[in-house]
Amino acid sequence: MRGVIPYGKQSIDEEDINAVVEVLRSDWLTTGPRIEEFERAICSFTSAKYGVAVSNGTAALHTAIAAAGIGPGDEVLVTPMTFAASANCIVYQGGRPVFVDVDPDTLLIDPNQVRSKITKATKAIVSVDYAGNPCPYDELNEIAYEKDLILISDACHALGAEYKGKKIGALADLTALSFHPVKHITTGEGGMVLTENDEFEESMRRFRNHGIDRTARQREADQTWFYEMTELGYNYRLTDIQCALGISQLRKLPRWLERRREIAAVYLQEFKDIKGIRMLGVTSGCKHAYHLFVIEIEGGSINRNKMFVGLRKLGIGVNVHYIPVHLHPYYVTTFGTGAGLCPKAEEAYGKILSIPIFGTMTDGQVNQVIEDVRKCLRDIF
Ligand SMILES: Cc1ncc(COP(=O)(O)O)c(C=O)c1O
Repeated sequence: MRGVIPYGKQSIDEEDINAVVEVLRSDWLTTGPRIEEFERAICSFTSAKYGVAVSNGTAALHTAIAAAGIGPGDEVLVTPMTFAASANCIVYQGGRPVFVDVDPDTLLIDPNQVRSKITKATKAIVSVDYAGNPCPYDELNEIAYEKDLILISDACHALGAEYKGKKIGALADLTALSFHPVKHITTGEGGMVLTENDEFEESMRRFRNHGIDRTARQREADQTWFYEMTELGYNYRLTDIQCALGISQLRKLPRWLERRREIAAVYLQEFKDIKGIRMLGVTSGCKHAYHLFVIEIEGGSINRNKMFVGLRKLGIGVNVHYIPVHLHPYYVTTFGTGAGLCPKAEEAYGKILSIPIFGTMTDGQVNQVIEDVRKCLRDIF
């Protein structure tokens, strides 16, 4: 029997396993040399100045929001077409998430809508490179500059994506990455915040370490026990074990990105003129990183749900990314959000379906997905 083809999947080889085992045999399981090595490797890949490794993508977003100085009374504009963590991080610091509708073509935050939601209390924007497609950074940066806002890029889907020739990482004030197994590279759980700003970097290093000014390794090197906690922080440290895996995974990223783009090109070609399906637009002048390949099924949620059930029955691990965040009960009851707030995102939610794409997907699996999508579409339309 044929196995299920998941919508996304990690790939671990002997090189990864050996890298982890090497750390297990060393003196530093955490707070050791692999962390800086991984941070430098990601900075070199993305051209960012600083990278601060943290325990997951959610911690990366929280660390970024804290560095941006968000606190009670502050409003932060955020897209609803994302995982809850993109908005939750604002609430962690006492801020108020203000949901901004998306461009229906790309499902990325719409800069015109951003402008219309700015108030005196607005301090920052959290944009999301949904599915791996870069946001319109020129427009967002222009608004941020004009209105004195901090732009935080949730690029958890977009490691390796390019905007007008520049890799994601140095296009916003702060950029958050995730290394969850379903992402481009994995450390099990893991994340990183990238920035060009010296002050943000310093405060984020303290924030991930309880707000303490020196790490255990620095104290060891200086032969001192002394440290001070200067602000409230968290234990958001990533381990050396995980960073070793990340370094090893990163070496394979260019190959996996190429494969993702190759698969996307096949899907785009094969589904081009087929009844009942629409492909999302790509930001002009950009290279998509295809964390997800999202299609829209015409005719509303009845048809999308039929596709979901039909494809799952055939062993295609489709999924829906995402339920707009402002529709989640927590947000409805805590912030009074709900249906009608972001109509474009809500309409898209009834149509979207993520079909399988990952760096080690075979031609046979790609063909199977195409065949089964066509079959299910024929049954409906
Ligand atoms: C857009 C987005 N932001 C943030 C996160 C949170 O990342 P993590 O699972 O590493 O905490 C995710 C995870 O799926 C995500 O998709």
